[in-house]
Amino acid sequence: MDSNWKNLRINEQRFKSDFDELCQIGKFGATGVSRPALSDAHSEARRWFHRKAREAGLITHIDGAGNHSARLECNRKGAKSLLMGSHLDSVPNGGRYDGALGVLAALEVLRSLKENNIPLAVNLEAIDFTDEEGILVSFLGSFAFSGKLTTEDLTNPRGNRLELENRLKQAGMSAEGILAARCDPGTLAGYLELHVEQGPLLEAQGVDIGIVSNISGISFYRLTYIGKAGHAGTISMQDRRDASQGSSAFTLAARQIVLEQFPECFSNVGVARYEPGLFNVIPEKAEIALEFRSAYMDQFTKLKSALLQRAEEEAARFNLGLNIEFLGQRIPVELDETMRHAILEASESLGLRSAPIISRAGHDAQAMADVCPTGMIFIPSVAGISHSPDELTHWQDCVNGANVLLQTALRIAISFS
Ligand code: GLV
Ligand code: MN
Ligand code: MN
Repeated sequence: MDSNWKNLRINEQRFKSDFDELCQIGKFGATGVSRPALSDAHSEARRWFHRKAREAGLITHIDGAGNHSARLECNRKGAKSLLMGSHLDSVPNGGRYDGALGVLAALEVLRSLKENNIPLAVNLEAIDFTDEEGILVSFLGSFAFSGKLTTEDLTNPRGNRLELENRLKQAGMSAEGILAARCDPGTLAGYLELHVEQGPLLEAQGVDIGIVSNISGISFYRLTYIGKAGHAGTISMQDRRDASQGSSAFTLAARQIVLEQFPECFSNVGVARYEPGLFNVIPEKAEIALEFRSAYMDQFTKLKSALLQRAEEEAARFNLGLNIEFLGQRIPVELDETMRHAILEASESLGLRSAPIISRAGHDAQAMADVCPTGMIFIPSVAGISHSPDELTHWQDCVNGANVLLQTALRIAISFS
């Protein structure tokens, strides 16, 4: 291959017009989107992606886990595939860039390479993974694809089980199909994901491109404190066994533990439910959803012990029972050196300022990291806002990110020739 590929850029107009079209699907307010996994809006976005891919002459495919992909084949026998992608689902009432940008950029890279007839030694595939945001299971698509999903993940999901069953049925998916979506790592040349940072660092430092070095691990638990229901006005404050006291005390303690002992970590209690949930009845059950994150395995393990031990202590303090359900985890990962170097070279070739960065958010790349060489490209998020309709990335940064993806993919592809 001659060196003309170094001057290749994505088609900015087409990329922008696709972005604008995609933002209309599941539009929420003026600047948000709401495309929870396997909802009508999400399915429409996926059909739109496949339609665009077919119009560009790409081959489309849907696997048993509902992952949607578009392929540009290189026609070399036994060639490996370089995957690029992210997710088209969003959190309910979320933003336009999280996930969607990575899928669109991957599609645009494939189209640019196809129309410029760039000869490649690898197949290229743009992939949209199912349920990254975890409204149902969390990482359903990339965990199934990378062989990490278990039957237990489907029978005791982090979201609502009935909703999961209904949505799978609607999408024509089954547990058997999902578990059979496991890829053959031997066929993969690597995985690249472009994503908005979702934090404030790149913007604050005036950096164009973040080269992700590590992705934080995340663990999720459901904690249920169990007390005794009774009349809210007649049982003495000393004698009552109020489940809400345990869950509330733990919620405050978790914050303190992280602030004082694990300053680089994060914890979140994002859901709280009381039963029976009435003004005048002492809560018998208090259920909370706990998530905690760390980029490093030793901290991740220690934080888990500290939080779960404290959860038990608060149960004992208020004379309550406690049921701890582990609902899954994604371990902290370090991304591939070769991929990081290729992203650095691509950024330099485009005159962009880059810096290494740790991802505090979870990404499908984390599921892929132990399956094939994996790299992640971050672009700045205005004010670090994400998972909100106010999520914003300047358009020039989106174009920069897509061009870095293109130039990185080319560098990886060449290494296979
Ligand atoms: C995904 O957005 C996550 O970090 O939870
Ligand atoms: Mn995302
Ligand atoms: Mn997200």
